[in-house]
Amino acid sequence: MLTDVWFVRSRRLAIALLIAVAWMLVVAATASADRPPRIVGGNTTTIAQHPWQAALVFDPAKKPGNDFQRQFCGGSLITTRIVLTAAHCVFDTDPGPLGLGTKLDPDDLDVVLGRTQLSGGGGEEHDVQRIEFHSGYNPATAEKDVGYVVLQAPSAQQRITIAGSDEFGLWRLGARTVVSGWGGTSEGGLGSDVLKEAVVPIIADATCETPGVYGTAFFRTTMVCAGFLEGGTDSCQGDSGGPLTTPAGGPRRLVGLVSFGEGCARANRPGVYSRAGCPPLRDDVAGDVFQLEAQEGLAHENVVGSGRGPCDETAPETAISKGPKKKLRTRKKRRRAKAKFVFSASEPGTRFECSVDG
Ligand code: ARG
Repeated sequence: MLTDVWFVRSRRLAIALLIAVAWMLVVAATASADRPPRIVGGNTTTIAQHPWQAALVFDPAKKPGNDFQRQFCGGSLITTRIVLTAAHCVFDTDPGPLGLGTKLDPDDLDVVLGRTQLSGGGGEEHDVQRIEFHSGYNPATAEKDVGYVVLQAPSAQQRITIAGSDEFGLWRLGARTVVSGWGGTSEGGLGSDVLKEAVVPIIADATCETPGVYGTAFFRTTMVCAGFLEGGTDSCQGDSGGPLTTPAGGPRRLVGLVSFGEGCARANRPGVYSRAGCPPLRDDVAGDVFQLEAQEGLAHENVVGSGRGPCDETAPETAISKGPKKKLRTRKKRRRAKAKFVFSASEPGTRFECSVDG
């Protein structure tokens, strides 16, 4: 008798538990659908959101298939005639039959602009006039991973400006920068025919160079890390050379170029980007573009936003402009207390972190 009652009770309990578990699963499923989709993660987007986004595609003579099947890297339109990409995208490690094997030949690739879905046609498809990469590019370490593709004809798409030193506040530590591309949607997986984007916060250089992350493989003067230490969202193979930009909503600026990562979206292996928004790379790009324009007889276009000189890495000045004046004496009072603080900073877009100690 007693056991019967217990049985009924426990069955009710079991049903209640089941309902609770089911409800939790529903909640978990909705929560993961809400999470910034996992590029890897992230979500599909349109070229209108990233009008400077370029796709580097192999020439049909070099690789069969449509533009999606021939796509191998990304890039950013920084002048009407020049697409910025990664050096490793155009660097050819196999010497060609003529011994001119250090970079792809202009007729090895085309550049697609103004198109969301690569296989869908439309937008612009450009022949290439010239390919260059940073003279200091080190293929062994990926330092100075910057390349240039000069188009045979000007593009009508909107270009992106590289962040100047006055704009460093837009992409300080923790800033929700955006990476976009048609690259792998999982490690070792296929790319996406439709352009994808993901929000990837800037990670501290000090974090990225710890042995548990990239250690000595990370060079803070020419690289910047962005992503999540817990993994799940990242750029991946095929996104290389593509833009890391400041978030939509504010002034859009180019701050990094997809360079490398160990695998994709792994824990403690965030994406590493060429640090395009700070010297020395920012100045090198401006100088290289200037030289390419002169050599190719192109009109000069400015590629850098506001401010010259170094990125000011020191934190902005902050103050608590409103808050309780008195410390509460008793434990009981402290437990019940509600306090309101107002913070202010010398730079717009500053994020605060604080803890309360009683
Ligand atoms: N090197 C890759 C490419 O050529 C890009 C890798 C980016 N990887 C990453 N985990 N963020 O496309």
